[in-house]
Amino acid sequence: MNFIPYGKHSISKEDVNTVIKTLTSDFLTTGPKVKEFEKSLINYCDAKYVLAVSSGTAALHLISLALLNEKDKVITTPNSFLATSNSILYVKAKPIFIDIKEDGNIDFDLCEKELKKDPSIKAIYGVAFSGKMLDQKKLKKLKDTYNIKIVEDCAHAIGAKEDNIKAGSCKNSDASIFSFHPVKHITTAEGGAITTNSKELYEKLLILRSHGMVKTSNMKPWEYEMKELGFNYRITDIQCTLGLSQLSKLDSSIERRIQIAKNYDKAFKDTTIKPLYTFDGKSSYHLYVIKVDFEKLIISKEELFLKLKERNIGIQLHYIPINKQPYYKSLGYGNEKTPIMDEYYKQCFSLPMYYSLSDKEQEYVIKTLFEVLNA
Ligand SMILES: Cc1ncc(COP(=O)(O)O)c(C=O)c1O
Repeated sequence: MNFIPYGKHSISKEDVNTVIKTLTSDFLTTGPKVKEFEKSLINYCDAKYVLAVSSGTAALHLISLALLNEKDKVITTPNSFLATSNSILYVKAKPIFIDIKEDGNIDFDLCEKELKKDPSIKAIYGVAFSGKMLDQKKLKKLKDTYNIKIVEDCAHAIGAKEDNIKAGSCKNSDASIFSFHPVKHITTAEGGAITTNSKELYEKLLILRSHGMVKTSNMKPWEYEMKELGFNYRITDIQCTLGLSQLSKLDSSIERRIQIAKNYDKAFKDTTIKPLYTFDGKSSYHLYVIKVDFEKLIISKEELFLKLKERNIGIQLHYIPINKQPYYKSLGYGNEKTPIMDEYYKQCFSLPMYYSLSDKEQEYVIKTLFEVLNA
């Protein structure tokens, strides 16, 4: 058996051919494909405005620049990739880490408690962890009740929906982001996007994406003005060509992921391996996470990781609590009361989950996992 990683991109012949066409066109960087990709994302996720950018991290940074001020307090989750809360630090705002629920997503009831305790909190950055939608009813309640900005980090969740609300549609948030890193559902190599329904926010982001530079029709043809301190977070036509081709296959890719999740759910039913959540139609399954109570077993989490690696299976830990990272500890974080996250960190890891994971490979993963755990 060849090595089975936890995640992997899928590049088809059409993907390759269409990128080659762009490589021989007049545009390599910002050209028509960027707009085309943005339009396709607008259609796909039901948001009014989409800005494609160079990475998911760039998307989060731009949102933080546009929505936050220095010293603003922002509620966020410890269960994410570093980029989510780093983007709050980039603008010298202050993350507040709140515990998660059993499904890995931030606990909005605890967020509400915090908002009641501290009305100066300016925003919530939630993450649709593993591909599971943030609870939209609770999000709506928070948005309607409190004067806060809401950002949905949907880096894991393109294609997910709950009660016909699509990830990225921003029905109950100010903005969402996607990542198109190769382990995600669709890839542009590096790449990301911001979605929003606010014209004002979109226009601000558009300027920040390209150096804070403005060019208007009443200017002389060679003129441009820098209005703000922006960045070069542009994505290229080459990347967007790949993105367009990948996007056309997204639904079938999610169907496959759901089928794989159902296969795992079935294999683990009534065993010592507990899925973080079983199929409920709300996840587009970037990750399939399982919980194992290692305290009841002889094998440790580290041994399991290494033994599976020896047998050509790559599992992964999503995530080490961000607030416990050395850099965050140096800022005074790390002692928050997050019992669910602490337990999650002891017990959970992600199994291989990607479009081209064959039935045979899934069977091998399941069989080997039981063998190693029961050895
Ligand atoms: C939840 C989450 N947010 C943000 C990012 C950052 O995305 P990118 O790698 O495209 O910068 C990632 C990437 O892994 C992520 O998983």
